[in-house]
Amino acid sequence: MKKIRFGVIGGSGMARGHMEGVTKNENAELVAFCELDDGRIAEVKALYPDIAVYKDYKELLRCGIDAVIVVSPDQLHREMCVEALSLGLHVLCEKPLALTEEDAAAIRDAAAASDKKFMVGQICRYTPSFVKAKELVDAGRIGDLTFVESEYAHDYGHIYEDALRGTWRKDPLRNGVVGGGCHAIDLLRWIAGDVTEVCGISNKKYYPELPYDDTHVAIMKFEGGVIGKVFVSVAVKRNGTLRSLFYGTKGTIITDNGSETMTLFYTDDEGKLQTETITVEVNSHNAVAEVAEFCDIIVNEKEVLTTATEGYKTVKTANAIVKSADMGGVPVKL
Ligand SMILES: NC(=O)c1ccc[n+]([C@@H]2O[C@H](COP(=O)([O-])OP(=O)(O)OC[C@H]3O[C@@H](n4cnc5c(N)ncnc54)[C@H](O)[C@@H]3O)[C@@H](O)[C@H]2O)c1
Repeated sequence: MKKIRFGVIGGSGMARGHMEGVTKNENAELVAFCELDDGRIAEVKALYPDIAVYKDYKELLRCGIDAVIVVSPDQLHREMCVEALSLGLHVLCEKPLALTEEDAAAIRDAAAASDKKFMVGQICRYTPSFVKAKELVDAGRIGDLTFVESEYAHDYGHIYEDALRGTWRKDPLRNGVVGGGCHAIDLLRWIAGDVTEVCGISNKKYYPELPYDDTHVAIMKFEGGVIGKVFVSVAVKRNGTLRSLFYGTKGTIITDNGSETMTLFYTDDEGKLQTETITVEVNSHNAVAEVAEFCDIIVNEKEVLTTATEGYKTVKTANAIVKSADMGGVPVKL
């Protein structure tokens, strides 16, 4: 069978995670990448000496590839994804789908008009502990969901100081909630469903020079009556975490993407509460599994699960939280 010829836009560590996913997949072939920075070009070439390199993404998109993985600054996702789709390529785009609802909607509409596959890389959907949590919830192990919570805590201090990585992350549109908090929001949406209303508050006590608040918390309502909370900080002084909690009428799941164990409380057949510690692989950037699913979707003509519409809804929820916080906590309906 002819292999899917992949190009990757970007040469960062995250882009290299996707390149690894492509090279490990028996149905895929890495043929080219595009990057502006010479240092990163050299680093990627050292890993993959035989692939073509471009500095103009428009040339990459026209070099004979079947699929592209977009790992560029968030502000560029719209133009790159829309052009790739218009050229008849399959597209896997990094999260967040875009920074604004308008840009996310433009990608969603271009994906809907295309007969090619479009997937947004919400990596939590491939993180072993979260995959297990979703499986337990769907199997009814904790009964009906009542309350869900997730925390995206990641100190961007060193990233903001880096000219390559920090500059575009200091764009007022690239606030922490849509930029990184989209992981926690998407995780909750994946497990609990669509969000109907949010109420956010925020402050800025770590990085006063930022054009947005560095710490947010929001309570939210989901379709079906579940309630939830999301905490997002691009500043707190601790190791990065996506600590998450799922309460149900018959049990509870406590998990963290950085932990080798997760806890399941469940009610047994005699009505007694039991505790189970489940061991999981720690892999918070499982691009290999993400790319494997994307290839499977293309080869076997399967439906995309993490669609552009899913990405759009997560962006919309994130920006509603910021809007609510900017108004001092006024509830915002979605
Ligand atoms: N899934 C995750 O957990 C995760 C983690 C990190 C980043 N991301 C996402 O991945 C994307 C990239 O983030 P990053 O951490 O790799 O950022 P980065 O700043 O480290 O790297 C971005 C790279 O894009 C290059 N670039 C900029 N403009 C370009 C252009 N026009 N053509 C080609 N290359 C260009 C830059 O030179 C840079 O090397 C973002 O959407 C980000 O939100 C996702």
